[in-house]
Amino acid sequence: MSTIEKLLDGNKAWVERVKNKQPDFFEEQAKGQNPDFLWIGCADSRVPSNVVADVQPGELFVHRNIANIVSPTDLNVQSVLQYAVMVLEVEHIVICGHYGCGGVGAAMGDETEGVIDQWLEPLRSIYNDHRAELEHMGSEQERYDRFCELNVIEQVAHLSESRFVRQAWKEGRELSVHGLIYSLETGLLKNLEVSVSGT
Ligand code: CO
Repeated sequence: MSTIEKLLDGNKAWVERVKNKQPDFFEEQAKGQNPDFLWIGCADSRVPSNVVADVQPGELFVHRNIANIVSPTDLNVQSVLQYAVMVLEVEHIVICGHYGCGGVGAAMGDETEGVIDQWLEPLRSIYNDHRAELEHMGSEQERYDRFCELNVIEQVAHLSESRFVRQAWKEGRELSVHGLIYSLETGLLKNLEVSVSGT
């Protein structure tokens, strides 16, 4: 069984490793953040953004929730978006889904419990919008994989319609929205090639 000491000891060891490599790392971090990327991913413990993209603290502004959903009525994701786009002026927004996503899987099934069921509601709409394609997939696994991809693609579309992204484009700013999907089996990120830039 793990205890909280596991995390505190891990933290001390990490600080030592970082300082050995770059003595002024934390001094520099304390000066402020200037990330080029906003990463919106799933809360799944197996898809830690900085680890899978192999980037240092300070490089990604991150928002994660169950099934990487960008909802126009979610104050959490919308304020992250406002801050990242309008204040930090990130140049890229990445929606990163993953195959085998439990939230996506739950939305393919009958019912989930309580608040999670409400949270997953947008996924059920996506499923319905793509029902013909999804229900013609060769196997259950292919249907699940494709639904995970379609969720990312739809969230990219939601983002490119969001008011902060539109405003940045109106101001002529460099800002692109990208859709990636992570494979738990290979550790690789795949670009779904649905990137959108200013119009
Ligand atoms: Co997930």
